[in-house]
Amino acid sequence: MVVIPVISSKGGVGKTTIAANLCTALAQRGRQVLAIDLDPQNALRFHIANEPQACDSGLVEAATGLMPWARAIRPAHGGVMLLPFGDVDDERQIAFEQQLARSPGWLGDTLERFGLPAGTLVVLDTPPGPSVYLQQALRAASFGVVAVLADAGSFATLPIVERMLDKYARPRGGYLGTGYVVNQIDPGKRLNHDVFELLRQRLRPELLGMLHLDQAVPEALASAAPVQRYAPMSQATQDIDACAERLLERLDTARQAASFPTLRTTETNR
Ligand SMILES: Nc1ncnc2c1ncn2[C@@H]1O[C@H](COP(=O)(O)OP(=O)(O)OP(=O)(O)O)[C@@H](O)[C@H]1O
Ligand SMILES: [Mg+2]
Repeated sequence: MVVIPVISSKGGVGKTTIAANLCTALAQRGRQVLAIDLDPQNALRFHIANEPQACDSGLVEAATGLMPWARAIRPAHGGVMLLPFGDVDDERQIAFEQQLARSPGWLGDTLERFGLPAGTLVVLDTPPGPSVYLQQALRAASFGVVAVLADAGSFATLPIVERMLDKYARPRGGYLGTGYVVNQIDPGKRLNHDVFELLRQRLRPELLGMLHLDQAVPEALASAAPVQRYAPMSQATQDIDACAERLLERLDTARQAASFPTLRTTETNR
């Protein structure tokens, strides 16, 4: 099992879009993929669920014993399995968050108990910035994917997510690495281009890839479909495919490095 949280310091930078479309691209490459929505917005369903309206219950119900896990996890587009967060009122959300705060390793322990087939990729969508959800996700993480925009705000808030990775993920033995996806690249905009160049220099070799600003992305969401299905020939589909390939390469390299300790320094804890 490889746990891949998609995280960001700022909201609205494309975490859910990247999580959903990475899931379908990874499943297309023959991987077993479980997508888990760890965000109370419960929005991952709109990108990949076969029946988004039926995803009004999920993680919270199952975690509190009101529903069996097997019923909470549903088939989604492209062979992906989806565990939605569920539509939860404020009081139940706060009670769930208190439960998570009391048991910091709950998510990792629960995923272990699922007994998923070897090699399953578990992709987690998370809410923006520090939260109990992000703590749980990073404590369980094998490989973190950080979404950023090529703008000054994203650049300035990168240290927030870096601190969270340093605190909860990087010191752990099972953590394989971090990959950044720069989203909404618009080659026509000078500032966007300049900030992307800055990010590229700062993040290399951890840059997984980029996702261009592409109308196919919101249009796919409006059709409740992954971009690959809605617009298979689009720039966004091409970009996501490249990110998925690079992610699989990074995972392979990190695993080899873990098996051959002399290589460890090149990849581990990046
Ligand atoms: N590459 C892109 N091109 C065009 N639109 C995009 C792109 N990426 C994301 N969007 C749009 O930006 C909006 C925000 O994306 P998304 O919901 O994935 O962000 P998020 O980081 O998950 O937000 P939140 O922090 O609220 O969870 C959505 O309307 C989405 O369709
Ligand atoms: Mg989101």
